[in-house]
Amino acid sequence: MKDTFGRDIDYLRISLTDRCNLRCVYCMPEEGVEQRSHDEILSFEEIERVVRMSTKFGIRHLRFTGGEPLVRKGMTDLVRACQQIEGIEDVALTTNGILLPTFAEELKEAGLSRVNISLDTLDDEVYRTMTRCGNLDEALSGVEAALEAGFDPVKLNTVVIRSMDQDLAAFAALTKDRPLHVRFIEYMPLGSSCSTEIARWNADEVIPLPELIDSLTAACEAAGLGTPYPLEEADAQAPEGWGPARYWKLPDSQGTIGFITSVSDHFCDSCNRLRLTADGKLRLCLFSDQEIDLRDALRHGTNEDLEKLFAQALAQKPESHEFRTGTRREMVQVGG
Ligand code: 5AD
Ligand code: SF4
Repeated sequence: MKDTFGRDIDYLRISLTDRCNLRCVYCMPEEGVEQRSHDEILSFEEIERVVRMSTKFGIRHLRFTGGEPLVRKGMTDLVRACQQIEGIEDVALTTNGILLPTFAEELKEAGLSRVNISLDTLDDEVYRTMTRCGNLDEALSGVEAALEAGFDPVKLNTVVIRSMDQDLAAFAALTKDRPLHVRFIEYMPLGSSCSTEIARWNADEVIPLPELIDSLTAACEAAGLGTPYPLEEADAQAPEGWGPARYWKLPDSQGTIGFITSVSDHFCDSCNRLRLTADGKLRLCLFSDQEIDLRDALRHGTNEDLEKLFAQALAQKPESHEFRTGTRREMVQVGG
């Protein structure tokens, strides 16, 4: 169904929990966020009901996010249930990968279509700094588990922050031998974490795309990986699900290198999504705290009440983000 600005809204991102087994500096405060009690969080039955209802409005693609969605018990059952709902074409997952060695295979078997893994560096120490507690080897085992389970594409989400000095050419090298699609994402000023001491957000922390491409090209050439070149949108080598990324590629590589310029060149005109928070609020835009509560209607209302709220969300979805620093909710509560 189209919103007021003629955009087809067919994609719902569902945050399953605010909890996470990591503490990425740009995503949440060190002490975590205030824990929501069990009954504040939507049950799987409630989520399924929202999904079923949303298909009437044209939602066809789902993605589960968190926090870390795999810390929520029974995640696989939810995937199985949702991918069977008529009208749903694919169900994807964004995870930090730590729990994939345990769950990748059963998720594949349950009908999960695609996996995105958040991974910001391939250096042990930088990984520990950026996640505040994580172990790089565990995340890498998660990437292997996703490939082994047969997920295709497997995308890596890499948030680029200038002061973190990430070795981006190492990711490019990874796309050479593995069918991995790395996407460099501009650092966005969401929540309060963007103002904590490490990696405090300011415009200088965002590396402008031309500079990023130049330095990546130089680093790839210096490492003997060849010169990356841009792909056309119609190119068969680009990974499925284009979304807002632009893709590049190294010669003779199995994977691709994408760029997501959420800050410097936003893509609000082609925004196709709504977000559902773990506590049952529809969020109309990542950068806006405007929310529509579905939970109350789910628990005390009729299907008609729910549908009215969903229609209201489509009607109120803003045209573009009034770019501002710091939303009330942390990124970990919204799910990227
Ligand atoms: N800026 C850009 N991306 C972010 N993510 C989390 N916080 C931010 C931020 N401030 C990314 C994560 C994950 C996805 C869900 O959102 O790295 O890949
Ligand atoms: Fe957890 Fe992902 Fe946020 Fe890192 S970015 S703290 S892995 S939800």
